[in-house]
Amino acid sequence: MNHGVTISGVGAYAPPGLLTNEDLEKLVDTSDEWIVQRTGMKRRHIAAPDEATSDLAIPAAFAALDAAKRTPADIQCVIVATATPDYLFPATACIVAASLGIPGAAAFDVSIGCSGFVYALTTAAALIRSGVYERILVIGAETLSKLVDYTDRATCVLFGDGAGAVVVERSEEDCFLGSELGAEGSDPSVLYLPGGGSRNPLNRALNGYAGNGRINSTATGAAKANGAAHERLGYIHMQGQAVFKFAVQQMAGSVQTALAKAGLTPADVDFVVPHQANKRIVDATMKMLALPLERCITNIDEYGNTSSASIPLALADSIRAGQIKKGNVVVFVAFGAGLSWGAVVWRWLGAPVGDARSAAPASAAQA
Ligand code: ACO
Repeated sequence: MNHGVTISGVGAYAPPGLLTNEDLEKLVDTSDEWIVQRTGMKRRHIAAPDEATSDLAIPAAFAALDAAKRTPADIQCVIVATATPDYLFPATACIVAASLGIPGAAAFDVSIGCSGFVYALTTAAALIRSGVYERILVIGAETLSKLVDYTDRATCVLFGDGAGAVVVERSEEDCFLGSELGAEGSDPSVLYLPGGGSRNPLNRALNGYAGNGRINSTATGAAKANGAAHERLGYIHMQGQAVFKFAVQQMAGSVQTALAKAGLTPADVDFVVPHQANKRIVDATMKMLALPLERCITNIDEYGNTSSASIPLALADSIRAGQIKKGNVVVFVAFGAGLSWGAVVWRWLGAPVGDARSAAPASAAQA
């Protein structure tokens, strides 16, 4: 039997540290004018040196739970979409579930770049629809600043840190109207982090490194050559124009396919909540869908590209601003490393946004 699915609560958290365009002007040869014109970005929130992705995910998760009027004990599964996990393993979702106080809940990460949130939301909806679980916490969380080379002006202006979360649960009305996911992985180097995985293991890269991706000045001979070859293994690499072209083509097509599965057309859409990669990509997508820009939710000026976190962060801001309303047809659409893409069509039933907090209330902890 198929069950209905809804989003009952939304949460968001962005670290207080800021990196403005003016700050970036002091780091690389760039300008506020160039960044605003080419990307729409003005500032980004940046995690503290000792803050990992789970540290951002947890306040967002508590906020979503509060908004849904649920406690952690009501959750049977935690899915964290992230390209910047705390560790290669264990999954960041395991760490988040433990911090929320729900040991034993199913927990796993979705690693598909900036498409993570739409993949995770589709997975959660399918698990609930089929009766496997009743309530799932879906989180998109990133600390991309840890992997950005702040000497590379082509990438360092783009990325920021943050987290957003939604409680997805069984309901009488089914809000999950359609989904389309895809990937084309023939050339990983279009957008990738070369080091740290099995292709270029960290231990090999470190043989000749001082750490943090830089060559160890005391290394000699083969170790030094090895280090030189691996100098930028620990940073995001991107062929910006190739990604740009792919995104413009793929975003609108993905929305149209998901809408067709839902039996709808772009004219039925009240709001598009796109992955906040570049204002020009988002504007081009709306144009291809023949939708006015007023129906697009953007907060890219405030956060930059926060990968898997960008859609739930934008969703939270739009609800707070009174834009998305009960009954609206909303499309979440993303593209990212893979290359990958996805769109989800959702009927919005009016879930609130909770306030971020990083620990359970004292009363709950004592209970
Ligand atoms: N400031 C000033 N000049 C710059 C900067 C900068 N920050 N960055 C690049 N330039 C220069 C280039 O060197 C180049 O100079 P040249 O003409 O003298 O060679 C010029 O600006 C134009 O460079 P382009 O790469 O053609 O600039 P473009 O208009 O394509 O904008 C950008 C670059 C913003 C990166 C764009 O290509 C883009 O947004 N691409 C998509 C990025 C994206 O969405 N990534 C998703 C990541 S998602 C994930 O999964 C992590």
